[in-house]
Amino acid sequence: MAMPTRNLGLDLMRATEAAALASARFVGRGDKEGGDRAAVEAMRLLLNSLDFRGRVVIGEGEKDQAPMLYNGEVLGQGEGPLWDLAVDPVEGTRLLALGRYGAISVIAAAPEGALFNPGPGFYAAKLVVGPEAREAVDLRASVADNLKEIARALKKEVRELTVFVLDKPRHARLIEEIRLAGARISLQTDGDVAGALAAVLPDTGVDVLMGTGGTPEG
Ligand code: FBP
Repeated sequence: MAMPTRNLGLDLMRATEAAALASARFVGRGDKEGGDRAAVEAMRLLLNSLDFRGRVVIGEGEKDQAPMLYNGEVLGQGEGPLWDLAVDPVEGTRLLALGRYGAISVIAAAPEGALFNPGPGFYAAKLVVGPEAREAVDLRASVADNLKEIARALKKEVRELTVFVLDKPRHARLIEEIRLAGARISLQTDGDVAGALAAVLPDTGVDVLMGTGGTPEG
């Protein structure tokens, strides 16, 4: 019988678990920075203990001067091929600080050079759908046209679509356009990584993410 190969994904999951447990002590304590710092330190410690080599290509913290795992920081004790990492030890620091639901801890890993590096910008325009609708979307097209094409690709009516949108003043016009087009909106205060994952995965009740959010989260 062949020996089972090592699963780096499970090791990385332990790093997100360590970050989540460390920051859990800060749930509802009104201290975004404290929760984030605890998660960053726990994630760094755990990643540094792993038999792998990963380089942070997308860290976080520029937008709000938060504690962070730095871009370019190399982690791990391994000698093998280098992995590119995108990390967000607490995604949704406000949710955590206010004791709300939905804060998550995130690591994405890909072979060296394979992760899109968005550069230092704070905010990015986002339009996220799952694989069935990937050919249907166009950032240059109107909200109504995108929704029509997404609905067609998903074999639904526009009114059956649910669009995840962050509840921010900058989205007033977007919200109006989505409502005019007839789709439903899931309006959330924070957390567009979770919103994007919901748009991409089946049976979550979210079909699309639209709007402007943090660039590293993108
Ligand atoms: P933080 O964990 O860095 O606070 O990010 C939460 C978040 O809601 C992200 O999901 C989103 O991309 C970004 O903030 C939106 O930024 P802003 O709150 O400035 O509109």
